[in-house]
Amino acid sequence: VNSEKIQVRGPGFCYEAHAGRGLIAEAGRLIRERIRGESAALITDSDLPRALVDKVAASLVLAGFQVTTIAVPAGENSKSLGEVERVCGEMAALNRGSVVVGVGGGMVGDLSGFVAAVFHRGLAHVQIPTTLLAMVDSSIGGKTGANLSAGKNLVGAIHHPVLVIADVDVLKTLPPRELRQGYAEIVKHAIIRDAGMFALLRTSSRAIVEGSRGESAKGTSGSFLDFAPDAELIARNICIKAVLVSADNRDLSGERAVLNFGHTVGHGIERASGFRIPHGDSVSLGMVAACEISVKRAGLPTSELDEVIALLNQLGLPTRLPNAVVREKIMEAIGRDKKFQDGEVRFVVTPHIGEAYLSCDVTMSDIEKAVATL
Ligand SMILES: NC(=O)c1ccc[n+]([C@@H]2O[C@H](COP(=O)([O-])OP(=O)(O)OC[C@H]3O[C@@H](n4cnc5c(N)ncnc54)[C@H](O)[C@@H]3O)[C@@H](O)[C@H]2O)c1
Ligand SMILES: [Zn+2]
Repeated sequence: VNSEKIQVRGPGFCYEAHAGRGLIAEAGRLIRERIRGESAALITDSDLPRALVDKVAASLVLAGFQVTTIAVPAGENSKSLGEVERVCGEMAALNRGSVVVGVGGGMVGDLSGFVAAVFHRGLAHVQIPTTLLAMVDSSIGGKTGANLSAGKNLVGAIHHPVLVIADVDVLKTLPPRELRQGYAEIVKHAIIRDAGMFALLRTSSRAIVEGSRGESAKGTSGSFLDFAPDAELIARNICIKAVLVSADNRDLSGERAVLNFGHTVGHGIERASGFRIPHGDSVSLGMVAACEISVKRAGLPTSELDEVIALLNQLGLPTRLPNAVVREKIMEAIGRDKKFQDGEVRFVVTPHIGEAYLSCDVTMSDIEKAVATL
């Protein structure tokens, strides 16, 4: 097994995230090194490849755990208090020394983490992210929770895992649409903190897009998104999120706020489209808007705005808003954002690729103009 280990640490927490290949078969052993208890609750969703879930379970059994596998229906609707209650009910026989292992995307990660936070007032949690988004974003940082009908992520807890296992081999079965959602967050990380990674993504995805064009001429079509990212790229992204989270565990000091780059407009688009435009695609559009605003308010060179648009396109991410989405609805949704309700607009801008900060110079009219031209 070759893997990279990243330390995620901050006030009151310290754990490792492993990124590599062939890690699923090692999961039981890695968890056993940290957990003495007898039982493990394996929480997953109904759409995950059966073979993957079985492999995790077998590895846990081999490490001496008694495994209770609990599957919730796939989809965001399962991130609910109803499911929290049902899952906890199925865990009733488990004691305090047990471990909760979440195997799935961000939905399973958030739900299983919340269950771990509240069952017996807190059990150890292990994240085994299986989507690209979960590997580079949701499994790191300790935010767990569930949605209410009144709003997403309205209940939750900060409950850091004791271990994160990101095995890139599992991404082979992930649909391109889901892979793309993860790439949006990777591009975000590149823009806010890593110009080198931006350049790397630009050249590697360009080479692959051109290569596949040559191949499709021969009749075998392919696209960049047929190629899974490697463990190094995952590790690099985990590091970026880990550093920002460590500095600002409870999301208070503003350090973590740069992770919201592209998300103000992105969330507005998600909501205005009735969640028909998925999160990563919405954030892609939100990042284009944020770059437009950054040209005006933070001195971002227009050549870099063009670079961002070019990279997003190479990755199959949208950069033009479909006409069906009503611009006014987006502005309405942004206005309702809790972050804007005190009247003061705070917006993450980038002065150049690789850096970002929270600005107070952006006005509602700047945002409106950027949305109008999207
Ligand atoms: N906690 C945080 O900090 C944080 C950050 C970002 C997002 N989130 C949350 O993450 C959730 C979204 O996560 P997501 O994008 O991973 O979506 P998801 O968890 O809903 O997974 C998407 C789909 O992919 C399937 N899938 C997962 N792994 C697979 C694999 N290896 N092969 C084939 N299919 C697979 C799932 O069954 C599901 O149908 C949202 O609830 C969001 O609020 C949390
Ligand atoms: Zn996001």
